[in-house]
Amino acid sequence: MIVHLNGRFLADRDASISPLDRGFLFGDGVYEVVRAFDGTLVEAARHWTRLARSLREVRIPGGAFGAEAMSDLARWLLEENGLKRGHAIVYVEITRGSASPRTHHFPTAGTAPTIFAYASPFVPVDGHRIHGVPIILAPDERWGRCDIKSVNLLPNAMAKQLAVEAGAWETVFVRGGRITEGTSSNLFAVIDGVLRTHPTTHAILGGVTRDVVLEIARSSGLTVDEAAFTVAELESADEAYLTSTTNDVMPVVRVDAATIGGGEPGAMPRRLGEALRRLLYAGRAAGG
Ligand SMILES: Cc1ncc(COP(=O)(O)O)c(C=O)c1O
Repeated sequence: MIVHLNGRFLADRDASISPLDRGFLFGDGVYEVVRAFDGTLVEAARHWTRLARSLREVRIPGGAFGAEAMSDLARWLLEENGLKRGHAIVYVEITRGSASPRTHHFPTAGTAPTIFAYASPFVPVDGHRIHGVPIILAPDERWGRCDIKSVNLLPNAMAKQLAVEAGAWETVFVRGGRITEGTSSNLFAVIDGVLRTHPTTHAILGGVTRDVVLEIARSSGLTVDEAAFTVAELESADEAYLTSTTNDVMPVVRVDAATIGGGEPGAMPRRLGEALRRLLYAGRAAGG
């Protein structure tokens, strides 16, 4: 695989990062994951806007990582890796760079951030969409700035492992009795005919897919409320689904022991999912 590291394209086995890199030592970095279909980046502008925001919020100089530069980089990786046909994902990580000695405070001004990126083939999880997936709940023990797409993913990794061990698709976090989001997804539920999801506070990552789904839902005349829901509301919801760059819209049919919507994917996720895929893989994706 040809990857990008600090301005160079090279084989992944030849790419090396200093052990003093702050991404390695402190998890001091941010990232993005963008889908590509037939060489076109999907919703690239929204991903690069979020990347710029994450960089700004953690005060990593972002001047060199604008939308145009990132799209060019992503397209190069697709090209170099023979991924201009079919599905692919592009991963981009930017850290505060490396400096010696190790200090908690930021290194001196002028320390170059590290940028690492790769593109790899992606297989959509379409099969699971037909029957829907089970999820489990776990306490949200993450920090108070989940709106930043930081590489500090230890709580997410630990919670996702619980899902794997339970035979579930995803673990969804609960904070103060209310659902926040999944380890790498947002959660929607249809409660009393209203499509609900957690508002974009510091408690969740504002998902690109979440935003697109909300726009589709509103323009199709559905009643939408960005209001957090409780575990009890979720367990008695008519429909629920996860959204993310890699899941698109994934129906949820079980939450721990509770069955959702009679154990069958609801009509709304299916409709929204189809509309989302039409949008992502047709004209709207152009211009990435
Ligand atoms: C914590 C978290 N929430 C939500 C999402 C979904 O975001 P997106 O739709 O932009 O992929 C992700 C994606 O990785 C995530 O890590």
